Amino acid sequence: MKQNIVLIGMMGSGKTSVGKRLSQELNMPFIDTDTLIEEEYGPIPKLFEMGEECFRDAESKIISRVSSLEGAIISTGGGAVLRDENVKALRNNGVLVFIDRPVHFIAENIDCSCRPLLKNGPEALHELMEKRLPIYKACCDYHVVSDNDISNTVLTIIELLKNDGVIRP
Ligand code: S3P
Repeated sequence: MKQNIVLIGMMGSGKTSVGKRLSQELNMPFIDTDTLIEEEYGPIPKLFEMGEECFRDAESKIISRVSSLEGAIISTGGGAVLRDENVKALRNNGVLVFIDRPVHFIAENIDCSCRPLLKNGPEALHELMEKRLPIYKACCDYHVVSDNDISNTVLTIIELLKNDGVIRP
């Protein structure tokens, strides 16, 4: 069974861009859980209007579904690891790669308008990162510090996964 490569990390850490590049380089399909949530349940800000739990429930349903895939690159929302059940499902047939991009880089160019948790500006990123960093670290198989260059991050991930035999050279 070919394992999924699951990208976790903060909003704006580059999961989607890195995921798309990995998908091209490794010839594996790319899946974005936020996109699937929006296709099935509507815009993320609308879900948040009904309460964060409403969004998290939709997210868990989508994660449970994509976890049964094989050989996909799965980009998750920044809060996907907040529920243990999501982490368990994603780990079932996947390796979790934490893209750790320093918050000051994220704050420089993140689009807050489509991210309800940043509706008051990017300042909230610091607090979120403080809460989530231990969770990302505890649940990831690979911790990749992103130096703000997507190509480097992609190469680092491929190297790590090849060395461990997760992907074939
Ligand atoms: C969230 C991150 C977002 C999206 C939602 C909640 C979070 O995804 O899932 O707005 O809790 O960090 P990105 O990480 O792709 O921005």
